[in-house]
Amino acid sequence: MRQLIRGRTLSFHADPAETGKAFTYHHDGAIITRDGRIEAIGDYATLRAPDLPEIDHRPHLILPGFIDPHLHFPQVQVIASWGAQLLDWLNTYTFPAEARFADPAHAATMADAFLRLLLSHGTTTAAAFCSSHPQSADALFTAARARNMAMIAGKVMMDRNAPDAVLDTPQQGYDDSKRLIETWHGHGRQRYAITPRFAITSTPEQLAMTGQLAREHPDCHIQTHLSENHAEIELTLSLYPKARDYLDIYETHGLLGPKLLLGHSIHLKPREIARMAETGSRAIFCPTSNLFLGSGLFDEAGLRAAGITTGIATDIGGGTSYSMLQTLNEGYKILQLRGQKLHPLAAFHWATRGNALALGMADRIGTLDPGTDADLVVLNSRATPAMALRMETVETLAEELFVLQILGDDRAIAQTYVAGKPMLG
Ligand code: GUN
Ligand code: ZN
Repeated sequence: MRQLIRGRTLSFHADPAETGKAFTYHHDGAIITRDGRIEAIGDYATLRAPDLPEIDHRPHLILPGFIDPHLHFPQVQVIASWGAQLLDWLNTYTFPAEARFADPAHAATMADAFLRLLLSHGTTTAAAFCSSHPQSADALFTAARARNMAMIAGKVMMDRNAPDAVLDTPQQGYDDSKRLIETWHGHGRQRYAITPRFAITSTPEQLAMTGQLAREHPDCHIQTHLSENHAEIELTLSLYPKARDYLDIYETHGLLGPKLLLGHSIHLKPREIARMAETGSRAIFCPTSNLFLGSGLFDEAGLRAAGITTGIATDIGGGTSYSMLQTLNEGYKILQLRGQKLHPLAAFHWATRGNALALGMADRIGTLDPGTDADLVVLNSRATPAMALRMETVETLAEELFVLQILGDDRAIAQTYVAGKPMLG
């Protein structure tokens, strides 16, 4: 099926934080999609054709769909849980909530709600942690396949320091992950992420098994957590007394490389930063979560200077919003506290092409380039009275993007397309 989608199109081909001419913007633009892919992009006057069905989104902006490279599917009912920092928060709220995902009916209901929420917030691809129960990953992949969404997900592997109801064993975790990889990885748009939760909840035996899985499936992502909070780091190093530092635990087990997504990566030592850069391992910034759990302030400029590729993510349910706009808002404020600046053009690059680069998927998603998948978000910069009033004095595209970044949320999402298909309304 071919269709023309009309609006103000914006797509990045470089990082605005590094180069001046980083994006293409068409004020009266159009995208032609064919069978779920972008066939052409340009000026409406050039691309219009008789008999081509048109959807008119003027005056809204059309960008590549947002990408959320770190969040937890079984924490949809953990979001907004009061009063704790990471380790207490996990024990008090998170592990009990994740235990419920042993029930496939609960997992299926929540998977449907979770994907609805992602789409209503303009997010078209996510890298999601599931619970330790393989049925939670089956539920999420089943719901993603039904919507033709490109989902990266994995069941968490965790075999200690949590209630029995959320634990696996090294062998069970390996076998379940293996079965899920065979069932889902590379089928349609689904991809599997090998998912050791973090070093605290995995024995050395289990991390060895995750290393084996990674060697056997080098095209799978690996997702975990690194250096989020001081108490976590202290406990981690006490559990792995021979490790030089936190990253060394993952390094020793063969997990480092461009497929490794390290959630948080806040309190890093110089050696860890150097090894992440040398191995191409990714750091994922989770601003709303880092503020909510009181974890710390991510050093974007420091990691950039070291040559580390970074992503920016919601970390639901430690994070407090499904919105990548609100995530960029809080990201801006964290960088302010560090004396760093997040320019709106760099922010919107980060949530689209930047996150696609972090996932190694920029050949398929994150831009409006012809040949890539037609995952799109349509943004209304006047969605609320406060936004409309502020927009009266806005003169540049960058100013408009900043209004969306600071004041926008799901109310600013006019439509979300997955593989050329409108998913809202
Ligand atoms: N570290 C280990 N598990 C988690 C989790 O579920 N959320 C966050 N924010 N950090 C973690
Ligand atoms: Zn997380």
